Amino acid sequence: MPEAPVEARVSAKGLGHAVIFLGPPGAGKGTQAKQIAEVYGVPHISTGDMFREHVSRGTPLGSRAKEIMERGELVPDDLVLSMVEERISRADCADGFILDGFPRTLPQAQRLDKLLERCKVTPLVVHFVVDKDQLMRRLTGRRTCAIGGEIYNIYDRPPNVPGRCDNDGGELVQRPDDREDIIAERLAAYERQTRPLVDYYRGKGVLQDVNGMTAPADVTRDVLGLLARKK
Ligand code: AP5
Ligand code: MG
Repeated sequence: MPEAPVEARVSAKGLGHAVIFLGPPGAGKGTQAKQIAEVYGVPHISTGDMFREHVSRGTPLGSRAKEIMERGELVPDDLVLSMVEERISRADCADGFILDGFPRTLPQAQRLDKLLERCKVTPLVVHFVVDKDQLMRRLTGRRTCAIGGEIYNIYDRPPNVPGRCDNDGGELVQRPDDREDIIAERLAAYERQTRPLVDYYRGKGVLQDVNGMTAPADVTRDVLGLLARKK
């Protein structure tokens, strides 16, 4: 049987919104999305994680994305959009979802707006505000569990056993794009292509700033507070 159109399947009952986590590399989007998605029982949709999975499976999409990501540039909009549209049309998104790292360009945001309008779902954008000098420290110190994706930091959130995940003992790995020279490229791409979305969403009255400089648990509390107020 052919699948129903995406607008027939997407809603946002549980969360009340399609929540977009916006902020520069290292702002804590992934750390927070994991926690908040668990609280609400909704999918955490990270376009970066999706691309990394394609790279590790060696799919055609993965081989196109790999070199672009390793240069710290953005993957072309058409590749990102078709991947996201397919993902949010799945049944598990019917009660809402958290978008982490998407949209990242104006065309991506405009396309998402149209899609959400058709689905009668309102976006709520959480903008993580973090000082630039913190970002480099966070990114160079990040290590991620190869099994469950838990995010650590060798400076600020070290695991109990060096190199091993506290949850499942998985190996902690460093992302290939977390090298200082590539981080600088990613931060520049953010300023050039993604930062304009802050004004775009603020102008629509759907953006809330969150101080991303406090401890992770405090950031989680602040995000949960604003989601509860917006329901
Ligand atoms: P993506 O994977 O999305 O990377 P990013 O946006 O660069 O963001 P990061 O994952 O680096 O940072 P984060 O905000 O998630 O921080 P985290 O929680 O891990 O994208 C990778 C690439 O894929 C892109 O460069 C592009 O090529 C491609 N791509 C993806 N989406 C795309 C799109 N839509 N369009 C085009 N291309 C796309 O935290 C970082 C560190 O800080 C961790 O060590 C953590 O422990 C620590 N930390 C977190 N919170 C705190 C805190 N409150 N205090 C102290 N430390 C903290
Ligand atoms: Mg991330």
